[in-house]
Amino acid sequence: MPEAPISFARGAPALELIPAAELADCAHAVALAEGPRLFAYGPGGGYGPLREWVAERHRVDPGRVVLTVGGLLGFVLFSGEMLARRPGRVLVEGPTYDRPLKILAREGTEIVVVPMDEEGLDPEALEAELARTPEQPSFLYTIPTFQNPSGRTLPSERRRRVVELLEEHDLPVLEDDPYGLVRYEGTAPPTLHELEGGGRVTYTSSFSKTVAPGLRTGYFVLPAGEAGAFEQRAVSTYISPPFLAQATIAEFLARGRFEPNLSMVKDGLRGRRDAMLEGLERAAPARASWNRPEGGYFLWLDLGNGGAAELLGRAEAAGVTFIAGRDFFPYGSGLGRDSLRLAFSYEPVDRIAEGISRLAGLLA
Ligand SMILES: Cc1ncc(COP(=O)(O)O)c(C=O)c1O
Repeated sequence: MPEAPISFARGAPALELIPAAELADCAHAVALAEGPRLFAYGPGGGYGPLREWVAERHRVDPGRVVLTVGGLLGFVLFSGEMLARRPGRVLVEGPTYDRPLKILAREGTEIVVVPMDEEGLDPEALEAELARTPEQPSFLYTIPTFQNPSGRTLPSERRRRVVELLEEHDLPVLEDDPYGLVRYEGTAPPTLHELEGGGRVTYTSSFSKTVAPGLRTGYFVLPAGEAGAFEQRAVSTYISPPFLAQATIAEFLARGRFEPNLSMVKDGLRGRRDAMLEGLERAAPARASWNRPEGGYFLWLDLGNGGAAELLGRAEAAGVTFIAGRDFFPYGSGLGRDSLRLAFSYEPVDRIAEGISRLAGLLA
């Protein structure tokens, strides 16, 4: 059988980082304890005890928390609600997570890219975009910590400036933060949500990167007064979420398994990141450059020659995959040709080393 390609494309955890046996035990225990109501329709906003856990962590009323079927479906609900209420262009970082770009493009939404540099979203560029036209944008979508795809983290100073700007311009923000807790070194800056207080910033995260993606459990912390409409959108889209999945996570948390599991995940990822960095340092050509994220799943490689898409074809032939940078910009924008996203979350360290050495060979 031919060997499976080495995937730096999959932004997914390695299977060994998923605590399957413990989750199975939690599912069994909570299903017996809750009985038939766990298998019935229920509140569109999700399983009560898990909403309460999230609410406590973010110091808000549980009524402001809506659990969604993964963070991504929550994005569909959020963007649908915002664009209906406040039609306008959507501001995104360039590069940004490709799936929201596709969701917005499918709806015919105007997407405006606000440039980033190595330190994340550029507040001056955001200010210039807000001054460019009197028409209000619908909202800003940002991933300030261990960004997908770039792995970059916005420093505290810039966060403060972004908060000033959104207050000045009455700009709603969706802060997407599934990777923030997956920090294996350094100190976490405050979230935009914490700095701003949650009046204009909606915060979303997910248990996909801290527990298991297949449980499809994300959450939104909405500004006071906005959770009801959001929850109604969830109800009219899927009636209610799968409570067994959410209750399994709640049981896992109640058993005190969240922090120990997160440590296990971080240890597994740190070693993978280090293997990728060592491989690049050893073998990448001098014209290439990359960052050293303190957490998350990804790093961003600049080739210095505009050839990322062409490299992908050759890499696939050599048994290595990644996602070319252009996929993280609006379709047809011509941006991102120099860069590529390397996910180190999925492969074991020996295959990471092998994959990077094959890539470097192609770049030589
Ligand atoms: C930035 C970002 N947001 C949201 C998601 C969606 O996660 P999920 O739908 O599994 O909660 C991902 C997944 O890769 C992501 O990288």
